[in-house]
Amino acid sequence: MKFMIKEDKIEIVKQDAVAVVISNAGLPKQLKMTDKKLNGKISNFLKECSKMDEYYKQIVIPNPEKFAAKHLMIVVWNTKKEYDAQKIREMGGLITKVLRNNSVKAKSVAVYSEETNHYRLLTEGMLLANYVFDKYKTKKENLIKQICLLTKRNMRLKQELDRQIAIVESVYMCRELINSNAQEVNPTFMAKFAQNQFKGEKNVKITVLGRAELKKRKYNGILAVGQGSEHEQRIVVIEYTGGKKGEKPVALVGKGVCYDAGGLNIKPTGYMEEMKSDMSGAAAVYSILDVAVKLRLPINIIGAVGLVENSVDGKSYFPGDVIIMGSGKSIEVGNTDAEGRVVLGDVLYHIEKTYKPTHIVDFATLTGATIVCFGEKCASIMGNDQQLIDDLRQSGYNVHERLWQLPMWEDYDKDVESDIADVKNIGLPKGNAGTISGGKFLENFITKGKTKWAHIDIGGTAFLNKEGYYINKGATGFGVRLAVDWLRSL
Ligand code: BES
Ligand code: ZN
Ligand code: ZN
Repeated sequence: MKFMIKEDKIEIVKQDAVAVVISNAGLPKQLKMTDKKLNGKISNFLKECSKMDEYYKQIVIPNPEKFAAKHLMIVVWNTKKEYDAQKIREMGGLITKVLRNNSVKAKSVAVYSEETNHYRLLTEGMLLANYVFDKYKTKKENLIKQICLLTKRNMRLKQELDRQIAIVESVYMCRELINSNAQEVNPTFMAKFAQNQFKGEKNVKITVLGRAELKKRKYNGILAVGQGSEHEQRIVVIEYTGGKKGEKPVALVGKGVCYDAGGLNIKPTGYMEEMKSDMSGAAAVYSILDVAVKLRLPINIIGAVGLVENSVDGKSYFPGDVIIMGSGKSIEVGNTDAEGRVVLGDVLYHIEKTYKPTHIVDFATLTGATIVCFGEKCASIMGNDQQLIDDLRQSGYNVHERLWQLPMWEDYDKDVESDIADVKNIGLPKGNAGTISGGKFLENFITKGKTKWAHIDIGGTAFLNKEGYYINKGATGFGVRLAVDWLRSL
């Protein structure tokens, strides 16, 4: 993506399309001449919009005479409505969607906004909408390659936009990893991907624990979940040293179940098809580290993922098994489909013990119950430190990746009690309080009073069935922008 800021007049910019964003309060002085050249097309449309109910309305004028651009888009927003940052992002998303598609097929777009302070959010929405998963299609979609903002040169805006591009490109990477076939993006691929992605980075060190190392460390949880698969289980750790040497790191942990067939408790038809997305936590962790490297964030970060395939096979682990985890705790496998927590139990233990981070934040498509609770609009957050949860929730609001806190009260411990082991990987019948049970299980693998920990269940937000304003169906990249916002605030 190429970005420019120019103060050129709308008439002379030689882009495929120009988007003009104004309010329905009336024609701004600066556009009087432009409107005249268009025989009053802008003011006529504004009249149409003066009493509108919608948040915004748009028209596209093809081949406007006396203009250098091939298309002119007028977007009008409603002064009678309440606007927040997200509404402006959505407007940006709309611009991309309209100009990218159909008859317009713009490759280069110039944007003029009456409100200069909207530019940042407009471009963010534009960029987030400028991704299509067409890897397996013979006919490729049109994407915008160049954005030019028609405003005064402004170093701070330029810097902000460069940062935005760096972040959103990592969001694309996250989406692409998730959307791709699980046959391709398997544990072996994911481990190699990390090694390739960070090759040659001086302040990044990658460690891959394969089956032999996992066995040596008795990480029997991750080993059990992956034992029915052709692909070796792996823990990948990315150490990024952007801060002082010896300074304690912050750790991000991701669930990397590359395909979740459910194991011997096999998922029924209608519940399995999306399960290539069960490594969304891992993809987010990779992408967050990718941003950290690009932006040279001045802190030390550990990114860790547990990679497995939860397959149905003669070698699969059994419902009813008791497993002694790496930490020494025993778990009863009530259901092989509650595999994410079994994998993460070992990864969380490994990271806390080996790297002694100040904070651990894990991202996991852990439960379907979070969808029952919040649908696809919001993720669940739980943890042992209220300040950390509040900070993450604030970052969630900042970037519109919203989090809602669930309780971790002590009486929920009962739900995951087992008759024959220290803890069970499922909770109450009918999946009651299922998301909390997931969090409660994980809590067993964090040392109380030692590490600040938050668990973010992205089961509902990582992969959409319904198209959003600037996100197509499929992978969203949820967690990347949220975590980057939080890391930058530390
Ligand atoms: N990966 C799933 C959770 C999931 C389901 C995420 C749908 C996104 C969309 C997880 O491994 C799982 O199967 N969880 C079970 C747990 C149950 C067996 C206790 C669930 O949520 O049904
Ligand atoms: Zn599962
Ligand atoms: Zn799963």
